[in-house]
Formats: sequence, C-alpha cells, structure tokens
Amino acid sequence: MFNSRYEALMDKFVIRGGNRLKGTIQVSGAKNAALPAMAAAILTDDPVVLENIPQVRDIETERKLLAAMGAEVELGYGRAHHRTSICCRNLASPEASYELVKTMRASTLVLGPLVARFGRARVSMPGGCAIGARPIDLHIKGLEKLGATITQEHGYVEARCDRLRGAEILFDKITVTGTEDLMMAATLADGETVLENAAREPEVVDLADLLNRMGAHIEGAGTSTIRIKGVSSLHGARHRIIPDRIEAGTFIIAGALAADELKIQNCEPRHLGALLQKLRECGVELQTEADCVVVRANGKLTAADITTEEYPGFPTDMQAQYMALATQAEGSSFIVENIFENRFMHALELVRMGADVRIEGRRAIVRGRTPLSAAAVQCSDLRASASLVIAAMVADGETILDRVYHVDRGYERIEEKLRSVGAEIRRIGQMFPKRATVPVAH
Ligand code: EPU
Repeated sequence: MFNSRYEALMDKFVIRGGNRLKGTIQVSGAKNAALPAMAAAILTDDPVVLENIPQVRDIETERKLLAAMGAEVELGYGRAHHRTSICCRNLASPEASYELVKTMRASTLVLGPLVARFGRARVSMPGGCAIGARPIDLHIKGLEKLGATITQEHGYVEARCDRLRGAEILFDKITVTGTEDLMMAATLADGETVLENAAREPEVVDLADLLNRMGAHIEGAGTSTIRIKGVSSLHGARHRIIPDRIEAGTFIIAGALAADELKIQNCEPRHLGALLQKLRECGVELQTEADCVVVRANGKLTAADITTEEYPGFPTDMQAQYMALATQAEGSSFIVENIFENRFMHALELVRMGADVRIEGRRAIVRGRTPLSAAAVQCSDLRASASLVIAAMVADGETILDRVYHVDRGYERIEEKLRSVGAEIRRIGQMFPKRATVPVAH
C-alpha cells in the first residue's frame, strides 16, 4: 500500500450489501500497542525488533516521525513482513513536528521517552480532533512531577531536565497514552515512580512487557497502580505485539450480523470480555477458543444498552461498530459515550442509511430493526468508518464510502480480509503522486 510511487489518497469503498460471510479472518497486531512500542525504542542505543506490526497508515506515520529525528527504522514490508527494527543510536533532533503530529495524535508518545533519554524534547501540541478535545495536560503534569521543566510556545511543548527523578503521580483521569508516556519516561528516572489511577488496557501491559525485556523494572501494569524502579540505561529487545482487540471486535460484530460462520483467528478473547458479554446479552451465538472467536448470525438480535468505559469496561473504540449492530436489534438500545465528547459522527451517516438514531448529548438512542439502504456516506474517523463498513454489508444495494483514508489508519487491508470471507467490497481510487499533500486525518 505504501511502497508504490503513487498513493491512493482519495479512495472510496464500494460495498454491496446482503452477502453472507463464511470462513476465517486473521487478526493483525494491535495498532495501539505498536505505536507506543515503537516510541519505546527511543529509550535505548540498541536496536529494538518488533514483530506483528500492523501494516497501517499510523505505523507509517510513526516511522516517518522517528526517521525525521534521525532513527534508523526498517519497516519489514516484503520479506520480513510485519517486523520492524528501530535503532535510535544517532537521534539528531528530538523534535516531533506539527506536520506529523497533526495527522496522528499518538505522536505525543515520543515526549516522555525523548526527555528521559536526551533531557530535551520539542513536540507539537496536537490540536482538536474529530472525536473530541483530547488535551495532553496529564502527560505534561506528570513529566513536571518527574522533574522536567515544560514550556509551551508557538504550538509546541518543550521539555527539559538533567535527569528525571521518580515521583508519585496520581492521574486526575485515566489516560491510556498518558500512562504509557509516563511509564516510558520513568524507566530512566532516578529512583521509584508510582503511577496511581493508571490505565489498565492490554496495550499498557504489552508496553510494560517490552520495557521489562529492555531491562526496565516495572510492576503492576494491568492494575491501576504501576511501580517503576528507574535504571541508568536500557538495552535492545525483541518483542511480539499483541493482537488488535478492536480489529477483532469489528469482525465479530460483522459476523454477528451477516455470518453463516466466521472464525476470527489470532485474537486474544481475554481482551474482549466486555464486548463478548454484551453480544451474548444481545443473543449473538459465540464460541471462544484460546486464540479465536467463532460467531454466527442467527437473525435474532435483541437490544442491549452500553456505556463506554476504560478497560475492562466496554471500549469507546467499539462504540461505533456496536451502534451499527444496534440498528439491527429488536428494541431500543441506549448508548452512552463516556470517554470522548464528540464520538457520534457515524450516527448521522447511519441515519442517512435508514437507521433510527437520536442523539441527546453523550447518549444515543437507537431504535432497532430498521432496514438499511445503501447511500453515499463519509468516514469521519477510524472507528466511525468501521461502523459504516459493517452497516453497508447489511444494507440493501451499493454503498459508496468516501474518505477511506480514515480506515487505512488502523485497519490492515480490511477490504481484502472481508472479501476473502464473502463480502462484496472493492476499493476505487484516484492515484496521486506521492508528493501530493496528504489530507489531514485525525
Ligand atoms: N485526557 C485528558 N488529558 C490528557 C489525556 C487525556 O483530559 O492529558 C482525556 C481525553 O480527552 C479523554 C480521556 O482522557 O476524554 C481518555 O483519553 P486517553 O488519553 O485515554 O486517550 P488516548 O490515549 O489519546 C487511546 C487510544 C484511542 C482510544 C483511547 C481510549 C492510542 C494510540 N489511542 O487514546 O484509540 O480511543 O485511548 O481508549 O492508544 C482509536 O484507535 O481509534 C483510538 C482513538
């Protein structure tokens, strides 16, 4: 997707609904685990080798970000598929520019590692985003507690210190990348750091596993108290990224709506607890094995309410896809979005396809079992796009989905994976020379 001289920037998906799905889909590595893992390579002179890296646009953006600083990054597309090797021995400029941060907010994950290793970091402040405000004040407050001096000027955060020192940090609010950023910074601090009210997401645990392999001393990842004993240096390591629980969940919902039998393989059902429990409540037929979930659509879905929460609660990253399912369930579902203030953009597009959704602040009320009909619709963010792909697969007729660069940020070849199990979905696009301006994707 990224190696040709041309990039398909304004691609659309054409999806004809109504096909039954049957077969096996392989889940890729987790984007949201791979991004912090790549940033962790900044903490050492040695190469860090990461396996099961998803081939998605956000990973390419992070490669560009690290390479712009002087890192050697080999993304193993081709022979060493899905492997990346990153060496940050010769980082020349500890800076993340606006051009890259604006296309991917997770770029701020380099802040903690840069200041811990080089005593200096300059990272553009991310602006607003399609799903909400998404400030980084908790990253900044935490780094100040660790002894960094932070200034904010001209849209950039600048952090400086001689050596970070361990501290007790109580997060006002649970933040996933905030926990990851400070955990990375604390590995090289003087003394012990305790993170309280830390995020418990599997991606945080995966990052702690990698850091411990690199020589860090981290305990408690996966609980709300994480203890990090600082060390003077870290070394290289090899690590396999966990499966993407949100990609897996997306295919499970597609299967619940349209599968004779769909096997979602290479996933980690333990990470999908809240989703699987809710789907069973809706009447979805599911079987789990060690590394796979098998789902069948029985056409007898009933409405159930969800409230998005931090892990292990129902993930905000599955809310949009769940809404697509709720449009086909008997009865009314109440969907409360607690994490981001503006994450219902997909609802308006679903309504254009015939869904009955009413938004009241942070709550959406979906009156179910309305037939969906194909329409021209637009992706507004990554998970909203997934919701529309699912809706289109059960809609009557041919849906044209515009702005699929949002999908490409986080789903690896979604159209090929779905086509391989019977969906009728194809990509059409205009090709632009690579130097063309990339549209801003949040
Ligand atoms: N927040 C603050 N201050 C901060 C940081 C966060 O007020 O300094 C607030 C946010 O505004 C939000 C809440 O805290 O209301 C939670 O945000 P969090 O920091 O946890 O989100 P994030 O770390 O920026 C990650 C994922 C998102 C996912 C959220 C929530 C990555 C790279 N991104 O974002 O993934 O939605 O956690 O689980 O890990 C996606 O993959 O589509 C995606 C958006």
